[in-house]
Amino acid sequence: MSDRTPLMAGNWKMNLDWKQSLALVEDLGGQLKGKDLGGVEAAVLPPFVNIRTVQTAVDAGKLPIAYGGQDLSAHESGAYTGEVSGPMLTALGCTYVAVGHSERREYHGETEQVTNAKVNAALAAGLTPILCVGEGLDERKAGKQVEYTLAQVEGGLEGLTAEQVGGLVIAYEPVWAIGTGEVATPDDAQEVCAAVRDWVRTAHGDQAADAVRVLYGGSVKSSNVAELMERPDVDGALVGGASLKAEEFAKIVGYRAA
Ligand code: PGA
Repeated sequence: MSDRTPLMAGNWKMNLDWKQSLALVEDLGGQLKGKDLGGVEAAVLPPFVNIRTVQTAVDAGKLPIAYGGQDLSAHESGAYTGEVSGPMLTALGCTYVAVGHSERREYHGETEQVTNAKVNAALAAGLTPILCVGEGLDERKAGKQVEYTLAQVEGGLEGLTAEQVGGLVIAYEPVWAIGTGEVATPDDAQEVCAAVRDWVRTAHGDQAADAVRVLYGGSVKSSNVAELMERPDVDGALVGGASLKAEEFAKIVGYRAA
């Protein structure tokens, strides 16, 4: 077992209004608080408008939950209607921000350049980016999952220092496994997560490679998380659908205790 802190991050996507977000984070916090989670870190990524609510609940209840955004602007401030900046997230106590989720790439045309700018914006604001990468079904069928994913890693991390890369979270999320119920096998997850770490080792050295946390995402549930986590290069999970139910997500976070 590595000494990297496992991270279970719940990506709520465009679900839950502020009252529902409050109910979920309080329920989740109640289930996690005071439990021995075996050193596993829990985080949630609510829609922007619900982050203040989550902050208030986490602070008031001293809940063992970190939180962050699902996206951020590449810009720091100014005339960018509809956008939310890194410093705004930092001011709400956010720790994390997802960057380059496949739904951002697919529905909002986010290129490698945009993703790279957002990673830099997150770092400049003191946030930890969760850089999301992963192949689609066509690349998987062609056996090109590793080279496709590594190209996204390389593009997203261009220009970063070894120290910055070591502090990052990279989430390997094969697009064909997201929201489909079709989880990658632990071997599939390990293959690409290991390749990501190897890439970091070659580009940025041992220290960065041993420190960077590589998550798997795509149809993770309490029933499959433990076997994924047994693989040496899988340091946690980015969880969509299953993070919307407090009991289910608490079980995922508590996989070591179970
Ligand atoms: P899923 O989503 O767990 O619902 O498959 C994962 C994600 O998109 O982060």
